Amino acid sequence: MTEARTVILGTGGYLPEKVLTNDDLAKMVDTSDEWIVQRTGIRRRHIAAEGETTSDLATAAARQALANAGLTPADIDLILVATTTPDLTFPATAVLVQSKLGMTHGAAFDLQAVCSGFIYGLTMADAMLKAGQAKRALVIGAETMSRLLDWGDRTTCVLFGDGAGAVVLGIDSQPAKPAGKGILHAQLRSDGSHREKLYVDGGPSTTQTVGHLRMEGKEVFKHAVGMITDVIEACFAATGLSASDIDWFIPHQANIRIIDASAKKLGIPLERVVRTVENHGNTSAASIPLALHTAASDGRLKPGDLLLLEAMGGGFTWGSLLLRW
Ligand code: UT7
Repeated sequence: MTEARTVILGTGGYLPEKVLTNDDLAKMVDTSDEWIVQRTGIRRRHIAAEGETTSDLATAAARQALANAGLTPADIDLILVATTTPDLTFPATAVLVQSKLGMTHGAAFDLQAVCSGFIYGLTMADAMLKAGQAKRALVIGAETMSRLLDWGDRTTCVLFGDGAGAVVLGIDSQPAKPAGKGILHAQLRSDGSHREKLYVDGGPSTTQTVGHLRMEGKEVFKHAVGMITDVIEACFAATGLSASDIDWFIPHQANIRIIDASAKKLGIPLERVVRTVENHGNTSAASIPLALHTAASDGRLKPGDLLLLEAMGGGFTWGSLLLRW
């Protein structure tokens, strides 16, 4: 028995050249390397250069994913960019990427689910490929979070960074689940009653400004582990898989304490967890594809490995996805 399955054909990642260390931040606000490392696990983050936009980061990651897949823009007919920091209010960052890749064919649009954007994006592209709406898709998580930060607010400016990650998706005939490669199952959630715990205090329809990121960090932290583990348990229940089947846990990279507590609660050993937050901070929708690309590039991921992805962020939105490499 075989079935149509969405598979990853290539991964890519891009981090801007400029690095901002915790010591650099300590010169800007009342903080310290010790506080940031102890509370978050973050040591450095990358900051986009002046004039470098989300679509530039996204295009660089996309080019690398295409090269790794052995494909060219001509082979792609869907571009989906998950971002909360678009170049412009419109048109979508995805059409700017499309243009930078020299494409005038196919469809391109943005998806806004903040830090969960890449899980939402993979799920959306999976459905579109299976419905025959496209043959090959680029799903990109790309952010210039530095442009949304209040650089005088030590409770938020130390947490975030800029970056982009991308995957090329195709459709393939695979052995029936849970065998075979590709996306096996996803669960998405949102609950807008939590919107004031993590949001941006501006927008075209409210203040006509871009605004700054505001967060009740402790409140987000309080909900994070429970929401993440609940949605993962739902993925397990739907597939008959369990934590002991997971070869690699690739969580949203926001805070090492949330990552480690979630792994512990699920019973996934830390050596099976991909942790990159130290090197780039919270890059929102870019964090999972960046972590995925890191683990794919350094040879950790082996054919047949079962990967568990999860994210939680503003809204709240959250979700998890099971995928065989
Ligand atoms: O994608 C989802 C995005 N968001 C998250 O994942 C964030 C979730 N939340 C967190 O990661 C944590 O709540 C934080 C890292 C944001 C904060 O850690 P915490 O352990 O919850 O610290 P706290 O907010 O309780 O603050 C403890 C102390 C406070 O001082 P007092 O009131 O005890 O005197 C803060 O004012 O630390 C102070 N503080 C800082 N000190 C040095 C807050 N930010 C800083 C800072 N440097 N950057």
